[in-house]
Amino acid sequence: MLQQLDPIASPTDSISHQRSPEQSVVQRLWRACCKTVFVQSSFRSFIEPLVRLISPGYLAGFQRAKVLMVQPIASGYLLRLKPHGGLTMLPGQHVQLRIEQAGRFVDRFFTIASSQQQLQQAGIIELAIRQKPQGQISEWLKGGITPGADVWLGDVAGQFQLHQERPAWMIAAGSGITPFRSMLQSLSRLTQPVHLIYLVKQADQAWFADEWTELCRKFPLLTVDIWATQQRSRPDLEQIAQQVAAMHADLYVCGPNALRQQLTQALAALPHWQGKLFSETFGGSSSGDSQTVEFISRAGQNLQASGQGSLLQLAEQQGIAAKFGCRRGVCMQCVCQKQHGQVRNQLTGELSSFGPELVQLCVSEAVTPVTIQLSV
Ligand code: FES
Repeated sequence: MLQQLDPIASPTDSISHQRSPEQSVVQRLWRACCKTVFVQSSFRSFIEPLVRLISPGYLAGFQRAKVLMVQPIASGYLLRLKPHGGLTMLPGQHVQLRIEQAGRFVDRFFTIASSQQQLQQAGIIELAIRQKPQGQISEWLKGGITPGADVWLGDVAGQFQLHQERPAWMIAAGSGITPFRSMLQSLSRLTQPVHLIYLVKQADQAWFADEWTELCRKFPLLTVDIWATQQRSRPDLEQIAQQVAAMHADLYVCGPNALRQQLTQALAALPHWQGKLFSETFGGSSSGDSQTVEFISRAGQNLQASGQGSLLQLAEQQGIAAKFGCRRGVCMQCVCQKQHGQVRNQLTGELSSFGPELVQLCVSEAVTPVTIQLSV
């Protein structure tokens, strides 16, 4: 799925999103005013403590949702929620999920896996959540969260949407299948060919296996290929790009950033391709370099870390409890002041300046020795 990063236009006229809640200039100005006047991001945040006296479940900017079901699926869980208020969504969009765990709020962003009709007709959304070792949401789900429990939902956002007027190829890797489930389940008819390749390690790890067969029966123009990479060799991305070009199709990718980059390169080599690449990615690509990072806590304590990975990963390896939310470059909760040194944005490849500026710890890696002033 989440940040103020603009969609990235790649050299191949691709359209890529790291799940960004769009904000107008007016909204940004209002937030800035609220920060100045109320020292809060919104007026609602300012009055939140008062409202909570009357309504303890109130959280500014969120609406409550009831857990209806937690169903284990391969290496994850399907979470069915009933929002209290009027939530709206477009297939392919993501939502901020907030849970309360051991007295602390934990926020993550998930693409909505269910259809628009399910929300409109039954007031229900589903999130498919991959289990992560030591993941806080995974622990919460594993801990036996029961139907009836309350969670909170923030803004629904994102521009990863199906353009039905052209043929489409969809490539999903792992949990990247969720927006495609929502898109395809939301269709009432299909007038252009759609070919979905769903990459999983093993066939039995595919999510919603029965539903794909059902959808193919419903839409004769839809084909779904569940591609188990441990049983078949990895797909030839250049060949896929050629097939996409031959069909004059658009390409939709949801998976690791590296997958998008490889497909972007393969398509760039096909000058006759007229389509568009739409992508939503997770995880950054590391440069493989190792640099020293100095973290300075608010109390003035200095800790040094060196190695590969994002600044957030390096901080955590040192036992520093840096603030984070989505871990995908979306929510901005991990933003800290870089005092000096250069970092690379792992999602966009963009290099920072060498001077002081704000950086996102979760998607920034050090290119030179770097000093970071932490917010904790
Ligand atoms: S932007 Fe969400 S944790 Fe970094």
